[in-house]
Amino acid sequence: MIEIVVATKNPDKIREIEKLLAGVRAKFSAYRGASPAETGKTLVENAAIKALAAARATQKWSIADDTGLEVAALGGRPGVRSARFAGPRAIYEDNVKKLLRLMKGLPRAKRKAVFKTAVCIASPDGKVYTVEGRCAGLIRESPDGKNGFGYDPVFYHPPSKKTFARMTLAEKNRVSHRARAIAKAALIIGRLSIAIS
Ligand code: IMP
Repeated sequence: MIEIVVATKNPDKIREIEKLLAGVRAKFSAYRGASPAETGKTLVENAAIKALAAARATQKWSIADDTGLEVAALGGRPGVRSARFAGPRAIYEDNVKKLLRLMKGLPRAKRKAVFKTAVCIASPDGKVYTVEGRCAGLIRESPDGKNGFGYDPVFYHPPSKKTFARMTLAEKNRVSHRARAIAKAALIIGRLSIAIS
């Protein structure tokens, strides 16, 4: 069976990814090495930097994701800088506060946002496969809900009529950007498993 190192250290993301990969026929383990600097200009570049670093260090196949929230009214910000939007040491609440401040008073039509996740699967010898998943929604004027993480309390998903932070993990994993990207990645892992078995 193909063995794949999961190159994410964020426990909130790991919780989701573990569930999303549960049905995939591969042996997954956590990457314990140093995290590379996320110096890419795009989500795809950053996902590839993380996956390649883990694949090289472990000499195993590796999977990594990079996620950003793009708000059209802010010219696509916070985008690739979503984790550090309010500064290098920003915590989730700081980023959410900055987002709400910048969007204060904007009408519903200007509150459209898209979560995007790039997932990269990399081989020890440097082959990369990248896929993307997205989920469209609206940024609320104030937080609502306690579940999830990051921008979830202000991300309202119209088809579900609630924020991500009001969803259970199972509900979020049916519709989220990360779920859609990982579903595509699972297809690639399936093909790789066949090719190397
Ligand atoms: P990363 O660079 O992929 O680790 O994620 C960037 C930032 O986006 C994180 O620090 C979170 O604030 C936010 N983020 C990533 N995924 C999600 C999500 O599923 N919901 C809400 N916020 C997220």
